[in-house]
Amino acid sequence: MRPLAADQSSNGSTANFIETLSSFSRLHRAQRWEGTFGDFLANILPANPSALARSSHEYVWDMLRWHGRAGQPDASENVRARELFKRELFGIDEPLSRVVDYFKAAAAGSDVGRRLLLLLGPPSGGKSTLAILLKRGLEEYSRTDEGALYAIRGSPLRENPLNLIPASLRAEFRDRFGVHVQGELSPWARDFVEREFEGDFVRVPVERVFLAEASRVGIGTYAPHDPTTADIADLVGSVDLAKVAQIGDEGDPRAWSWSGAVYAASRGVLEMIEILKVKREFLYLLLTLTQEKNVKVSRFPLIHLDETILAHTNLAEFHKFLQEKENEALLDRMVIIKIPYALSYRDESRIYQKLVSGAPAFRNVHLDPHVLNLAAVFGILTRLARPEREGLDLPKKLRLYAGEAVEGVPETEATRLRAEAPEEGMTGVSPRFVINAISNAITRGNTHSLTSMELLLALKDGIESDARMDVKQKKAWIDHLVTARKEFYNRWVKEDVHRAMFASFEEEAQQLLEKYLDEVEASLDHRQVTDPITGESRAADERFLRSVEEKIKVSDSGKLSFRQEVVRKAMVAFKAGEKFKLASHARMREAIEQYLFEERRDVLRLVTSTARPDEEARQKISVVQQRLVNEYGYDEHSAKEALSYVTTLLAQE
Ligand SMILES: Nc1ncnc2c1ncn2[C@@H]1O[C@H](COP(=O)(O)OP(=O)(O)OP(=O)(O)O)[C@@H](O)[C@H]1O
Ligand SMILES: [Mg+2]
Repeated sequence: MRPLAADQSSNGSTANFIETLSSFSRLHRAQRWEGTFGDFLANILPANPSALARSSHEYVWDMLRWHGRAGQPDASENVRARELFKRELFGIDEPLSRVVDYFKAAAAGSDVGRRLLLLLGPPSGGKSTLAILLKRGLEEYSRTDEGALYAIRGSPLRENPLNLIPASLRAEFRDRFGVHVQGELSPWARDFVEREFEGDFVRVPVERVFLAEASRVGIGTYAPHDPTTADIADLVGSVDLAKVAQIGDEGDPRAWSWSGAVYAASRGVLEMIEILKVKREFLYLLLTLTQEKNVKVSRFPLIHLDETILAHTNLAEFHKFLQEKENEALLDRMVIIKIPYALSYRDESRIYQKLVSGAPAFRNVHLDPHVLNLAAVFGILTRLARPEREGLDLPKKLRLYAGEAVEGVPETEATRLRAEAPEEGMTGVSPRFVINAISNAITRGNTHSLTSMELLLALKDGIESDARMDVKQKKAWIDHLVTARKEFYNRWVKEDVHRAMFASFEEEAQQLLEKYLDEVEASLDHRQVTDPITGESRAADERFLRSVEEKIKVSDSGKLSFRQEVVRKAMVAFKAGEKFKLASHARMREAIEQYLFEERRDVLRLVTSTARPDEEARQKISVVQQRLVNEYGYDEHSAKEALSYVTTLLAQE
């Protein structure tokens, strides 16, 4: 991996940025709209009545589809609606697809919309990130034409102006505009219309609103602090005593403080962090809010509220909650979606890549090309259940989950294994743990280069010094580190070094493959091979064939079927008008790489040779090292380490 780009600014970009800012603010001003309800009915409503009558669930669903509008046109609706999450969340497509399904069903009026959406997952597994994406997605959408939202001006609930239409006129309204108005005016708005407009609702001011969490417009967040002091007023507000003194009537809606989180979230979403930590009284209120779309506060009749509640909690809290019998009924009123950790090391590695490139501590730090993948392999190993099947072990399972071909195991096995272990991904190491270990290694080592071996040490350190883990678990995790190194890193680094020993590995390998094929064909057909230079004929070079095949342990009795299979594959490629490439035959690739490598392993022997290397030897080593740097993403430090590491591996073979 190259050093992460630290500096993307150039001189011209400041001016560009200022231009972007001012066009943003121009656009923003242009989007504003204000008028009376009468203007609204005449000028705004007719263009798209149904869009203006959307419920919060419909709004979220439309928002998701809007963000997916540029996605693959032939992808399914569900896949496109996940586009918003794809920017930041990797390896959890299935849970995301359930989240998307929830909004689709809720928008269609299904009963799930009357249940609270609860994301359940292990720590640092992306729940908050999902909520953030949804919130940012809503903010952005509300600035578009398609996402335009209107509200009664000044209403602390930003209620839909259509709620102004009296119940007795709604049937006629539906006949006229084709939409059914379900909402009801809040006590605040009722009072406002009466007091300021003597009930003449056509004159009530309406404005376009833009969702914004920072100003508590349509997006509310509630995090439980100390449960003993938590007050339900944080959610639904309370009497504002100063105003009571002014107005003189406790029952006046103007004397109520409408600052609760449920009002902030009206028309949009309410994010409930660690929801199971809140008092049961709060939970009842929220469940009723989702089910009945209203809240009851002491001095007013039921207050209609339209919002989507998105709650999350971690596993420990959830198990505690389950233990109380009375909670069972509450669970019934929630839609629980599990958000597990990623299970493919490739996805996991992307997560680290994202976190690393966003952190200033990692600026200008070079990571060798396997650091993140190796860390990810370790991470996934801690999350997987051991497969109970003949011929399968953890490393093989891990590769299957990453979509890699594993010899002797059909690809479909991954799906089956997944179904056998539904709890997989709910435990194990968190991305945060890994990233912390990496940053500790960097800070402590005060280094600008981190190698895979240093990463392993850092992870080991992290495990050993973790106070939450018991001895047994520590041992299990350290064993996973060893597995990650032996079964993955060794192979990766060897391959890099092998390849770096050639001026053009691909070319030489391809030539060798072609030679092998020629000889095999001659041998199968009992033909003679004509030497291109001397023109002499000779029999197929059986010694050469065997020396390639022995690299991958093809036995004497098995050689015929192996050769036939290779020729068959080559024929298939030939018929398709393609060249038979090494990449299309994993075993041949291994054999050829090994063959070429052994031809040149002498260079490596020089790395550790006890005798002082002479100038020529040093030159050879330095060429390989330089190729590791130029072509394989190493820096000098990690290239040196890789070379000497592979040499020691070689000594053990
Ligand atoms: N599947 C994933 N894809 C991309 N990034 C992820 C994923 N899972 C976690 N992360 C990253 O890990 C970090 C922690 O995730 P986040 O805070 O969203 O987790 P959480 O589930 O809310 O955790 P907690 O239960 O501790 O609050 C974030 O920076 C997030 O971007
Ligand atoms: Mg969180």
